[in-house]
Amino acid sequence: MSKEIRTKFGVNEEKPNQWFETLYAETNVKGEGVPWANMASHPMFKSWLLNNSFSGKGKTALVVGCGLGDDAIELESLGFKVTAFDVSDSAIELCKKRFPTSTVNFVQADLIKGIPEWKHQFDVVLEIFTIQALPPKYENVLIEHIADFVKENGQLILITEIKEEKRNFENGPPWLLNSTYINAFESLGLQKSSQLINTTTEMGDEIHLTIFQK
Ligand SMILES: C[S@@+](CC[C@H](N)C(=O)[O-])C[C@H]1O[C@@H](n2cnc3c(N)ncnc32)[C@H](O)[C@@H]1O
Repeated sequence: MSKEIRTKFGVNEEKPNQWFETLYAETNVKGEGVPWANMASHPMFKSWLLNNSFSGKGKTALVVGCGLGDDAIELESLGFKVTAFDVSDSAIELCKKRFPTSTVNFVQADLIKGIPEWKHQFDVVLEIFTIQALPPKYENVLIEHIADFVKENGQLILITEIKEEKRNFENGPPWLLNSTYINAFESLGLQKSSQLINTTTEMGDEIHLTIFQK
């Protein structure tokens, strides 16, 4: 993340949602200027899918902080009935513009506030890089709301960057998690069932793809 973004959006940010809206309002369907926009589903998610048979027939999926929508489209292609949300209205508008024939339900919603009607509603919940994008003071509530979306016997797929050292809250965004995130989800009724770790990242941290089962 650029230094310019870091100075605009710091650890004490009281209006994080506004910050994301401004960023997406200034981009276009090519995602120019959005630092995390792959314009394709996340490469680690894609490679996990290639090695696991994962059918969505008759199942529901929720994509948290969906950004420009590619991971939602990937899940739709596997047969899931997909809902995907982001706090930014402009991001949701861009998803609809990019994928006009998709049946994904792209909606604006705020993970910090929570969405009570989605409690225990989804067979699969996919979260990529949203927790770490928000200041750490929001972390517990974000984790609680994400865990709540998962149905009994459902799965959470979480992709996050990890740094195994004392956390430095001044140094963000992103505010990288360490492995204690697993305990945080396990205390909310999810069990870690498998994990992939990519240690060959540019920044020298790790990217974890963790599957939790409810
Ligand atoms: C680092 S980006 C990752 C986007 C996407 N998951 C990806 O991997 O490309 C974090 C996303 O979370 C969204 N976001 C931030 N705060 C949110 C909130 N309170 N509720 C829902 N989405 C939020 C941002 O707008 C942004 O799209």
